[in-house]
Amino acid sequence: MVTDNELILAARQVAARAYSPYSKYCVGAAVLFEDAADALFVGCNVENASYGLTICAERNAICAGISAGFRRIEKIAIALLNDKGAPQPSFMPCGACRQFVAEFSTDKTAVLVDNRGTWFLKELLPHVFEV
Ligand code: THU
Repeated sequence: MVTDNELILAARQVAARAYSPYSKYCVGAAVLFEDAADALFVGCNVENASYGLTICAERNAICAGISAGFRRIEKIAIALLNDKGAPQPSFMPCGACRQFVAEFSTDKTAVLVDNRGTWFLKELLPHVFEV
């Protein structure tokens, strides 16, 4: 069983691999999917000289799990490192990433933000857009 602490540590670890020469924000995300046993999927933010092409850590981590065949997110952890590589209170996930998590969420999907707290996705994105 993957603990919340392990999920946060995995998010911190992958944050160190962020490609963020423009913002210098090093963000990491680790996702636990339902029915994935203890398999974790991780992602960091990947920026681009054409700024709008930047992909957030959360979406990269989710895409890795979806590509491996999983569909329902149990928990997603997010971590932010400072310029010395130390964890710092993370910002809350952006609106685009909340909507992206929502696509693969249930009523129980939890969002763990390093040094900040834990919320259900439905608390962070009430009245979600659905089709
Ligand atoms: N970023 C994320 O990785 N996740 C978020 O939820 C918000 C922002 C990244 C994108 C960009 O590389 C940097 O943080 C600053 O916006």
